[in-house]
Amino acid sequence: MSLRTAQIRLVSSHPEVYEPCDDSFALVDALLADRINLVEHHPVLCMEVGCGSGYVITSLALMLGQEVPGVQYIATDINPYAVEVTRKTLEAHNVHADLINTDIASGLEKRLAGLVDVMVVNPPYVPTPEDEVGREGIASAWAGGENGRAVIDKILPSADKLLSKRGWLYLVTLTANDPSQICLQMMEKGYAARIVVQRSTEEENLHIIKFWRDFDIQMDAKDIVPNKAAPVGVMDTLLSQVHRLSFRRSASSNNN
Ligand SMILES: C[S@@+](CC[C@H](N)C(=O)[O-])C[C@H]1O[C@@H](n2cnc3c(N)ncnc32)[C@H](O)[C@@H]1O
Repeated sequence: MSLRTAQIRLVSSHPEVYEPCDDSFALVDALLADRINLVEHHPVLCMEVGCGSGYVITSLALMLGQEVPGVQYIATDINPYAVEVTRKTLEAHNVHADLINTDIASGLEKRLAGLVDVMVVNPPYVPTPEDEVGREGIASAWAGGENGRAVIDKILPSADKLLSKRGWLYLVTLTANDPSQICLQMMEKGYAARIVVQRSTEEENLHIIKFWRDFDIQMDAKDIVPNKAAPVGVMDTLLSQVHRLSFRRSASSNNN
């Protein structure tokens, strides 16, 4: 059983590229926590949006390794330096991904529509003034505009187009991003959700949320009120999970 992830000493760097940090580690821990499911899922195409240093896509390729042969990996980043750094990180670990310098998945949506089995995203989620979003270089790593949602709100519809019918999305969110509202938004599109990892640091409260299509739960957000039938169990569990975790300030913990 391979539990390898990218080695920090082999992760390349550049002053304009986001270095692996708590959020990157939490995302990789979520993938590790779900590794058996991922292996059984047998993804054909895995994609990372916003690959930065390449730590996450490299770790995913290493942890699936030879147990899931023939997987194709694709990673995008709006920062050209990030694409170069990711290339070096992949090479240092002897794994391969196709790398594209683009805005989210611009130029790929037609070709990859409905084909991505696993998507991983650690987006720029920090609340900032709107005019900081989309700036060149390292600022693009964190600037998320109002509520930190500017880029997340563009990624979600793109993910919906790209994910295969059995596709899974792992998304890093911060409490300030209103993760329960993100879940409701995705539920309207027919996705179920589960918090795979929750982590509180001195600075932030992170949730790594996994989304997958579950056509039984498709509903209007207006239906999500007490006493309406819909998938009460799923909604209650998820929303209570999100609300509970949003207010929790405990030490780092996993929630599988
Ligand atoms: C928080 S960093 C995460 C980097 C890496 N995935 C990790 O977890 O360490 C966010 C990354 O998203 C990239 N990014 C920001 N906006 C983007 C966009 N519109 N399209 C693609 N990548 C974007 C940034 O350049 C940055 O590399």
